[in-house]
Amino acid sequence: MKRRDLINWVGLAAIASSLPVAIAACSPQTTASEDWQTIGTVEDLDQDGQLLVQESASVNVLVIGTSTTPNLIAVDARCTHSGCTVTWENEANKFGCRCHGAEYDSQGQVLRGPATKPLKTYTAKIENSSVLVKAN
Ligand code: FES
Repeated sequence: MKRRDLINWVGLAAIASSLPVAIAACSPQTTASEDWQTIGTVEDLDQDGQLLVQESASVNVLVIGTSTTPNLIAVDARCTHSGCTVTWENEANKFGCRCHGAEYDSQGQVLRGPATKPLKTYTAKIENSSVLVKAN
């Protein structure tokens, strides 16, 4: 092999070996754990069958269920009409707002006005002894 051919092969090998690193550097670096937010404990959820967390304008979540519920329900607890806090009506399987009577189904869709927009929903899960939510 000639010296020039050897240099070309070495250069090509160097480029090929760095390609996976370059591709990885350009890919989005999101991990599932970044999207989940811990909002409480399983003990608190099990106590009332719901967990309301109103810490700030960005965290206002109502989770419905217990540690034995297959699919937890989680919504932004602020009524979309004027911002009152909705409550869960277990027997009727819906959220209600006592301020002006709006109602939402378990998926946050409007059942009765004056609200016209659905509640924001979250995906909720239990991990170890914590309740976590992630915006949908
Ligand atoms: Fe909920 Fe008006 S604030 S119905």
